[in-house]
Amino acid sequence: MSTSEAARDVASLPEFPGELLGELGGEPTPLTERLFAAAADTPLRLGADGLVLLRNHDLAAVASNSAAGNAPADSFVSDPVTLRLLENHIFTMNPPVHGPRRSAFLRQFGAGKIERYRGLADAVVEQLIVEGCERGVIDFHREFAVRATVRFWGAIVGLNVGEQATLEECIAGDYSLNFLLAPSEEEASRRAAANQVYLDTVANAIVRSLIAGDEVLLELKSGLDADDTNHGGAEELGLLLAATLTDGFHTLAVGISNAVLAVLARPDVHARLRDSPELIDNAFHEGTRLEPPICATPRYALEDFVYDGLLIPGGTGITMMWMAGNRDPQAFDAPNEYHLDRGAARVRTFGGGLHICAGRAASRLLGTAVLRGLLNDRTEVSAAGGPPRWKTGSFLHELDALPVSICR
Ligand code: HEM
Repeated sequence: MSTSEAARDVASLPEFPGELLGELGGEPTPLTERLFAAAADTPLRLGADGLVLLRNHDLAAVASNSAAGNAPADSFVSDPVTLRLLENHIFTMNPPVHGPRRSAFLRQFGAGKIERYRGLADAVVEQLIVEGCERGVIDFHREFAVRATVRFWGAIVGLNVGEQATLEECIAGDYSLNFLLAPSEEEASRRAAANQVYLDTVANAIVRSLIAGDEVLLELKSGLDADDTNHGGAEELGLLLAATLTDGFHTLAVGISNAVLAVLARPDVHARLRDSPELIDNAFHEGTRLEPPICATPRYALEDFVYDGLLIPGGTGITMMWMAGNRDPQAFDAPNEYHLDRGAARVRTFGGGLHICAGRAASRLLGTAVLRGLLNDRTEVSAAGGPPRWKTGSFLHELDALPVSICR
């Protein structure tokens, strides 16, 4: 359908219930039920001209449309440090640089190559279990999940022990402020400080490792040199990879904690997984379907396009509510229940289409290594706190803490 034949425009859509925004990041069941009650079967309007997609099939279809690109960094932040970080993340890139940079990243860290890090993932998990057993009760999020991602990516990019400690503090602390819907001035300034620490630490380590001749980083660089001659030298590569790995250090740690919580909260699932390790993959997908680390991400109309009779003008901000898509009753039977036999089909945790998460193979590798390491006959692990407390008013679905007791 041509843009002139579109039957409806964004202004005619029902408005997103703004009072629910403050609940974003919190317990998903009541939130998604109220959202689907507000939007029987239609996208919603946010503010004067923004669009919100909730339905699983709408998310999949729009995500696959090349006109629904990434939102440029300066459309949602302005402080110079955060802008520098986001501008260098593939997540804010569009043609012509998006394709070559995404492909170069995937050639090193996508499904084809990620298996080379399986031994590293298993070793990191084993070491953390031993350390956890020495302590007895730990805050699983800070002392296991964040440490797992910091040690995993730290080994790949060459972070020394001091840098790992700095990063652990940053990732488990103020880095989460990046996801707040409405940060105060004070929060925005702490966010900028955390981003500066993050970039200084990780980008410097990458440049150092590159100069020392690290093979993977050299291959990444020559991949960029071949396809994207404008990407610059070692320092630009340091920034590009450091920025893109923020989700490797941070979002993945949140995903690991959420997937573990989802099992520990269900003794029947826990017992079944101990007997059936072949279901660990499903546990990772089902846990992060119900408790996805990222509630929503922004896309952006790069040009006018029509979806399902709706004219979406170039420049429209499109909020992709992946969390709602994961609980859409039109896509899943009993969407609020945990079913170990459900596969990954229609799960939208990692987005979809041309910009589907470039780190999903790495996420699955480390996430399943953690679940396999913890959920077996040799390891006793259980939740040691009260009901989960989620941070709210955030695009992130992140626990305040996850007290866990662990022993062998
Ligand atoms: C459980 C962990 C993770 C979750 C839930 C997650 C989720 C997402 C989502 C929802 C998107 C937007 C996709 C879209 O617009 O269709 C995305 C994009 C992206 N993610 Fe992840 N992510 C995770 C881990 C990672 C990791 C480990 C990395 C890097 C190592 C990573 C790198 C990226 C990149 C580069 C993009 C932009 C892709 C593009 O525009 O081509 N993510 N992620």
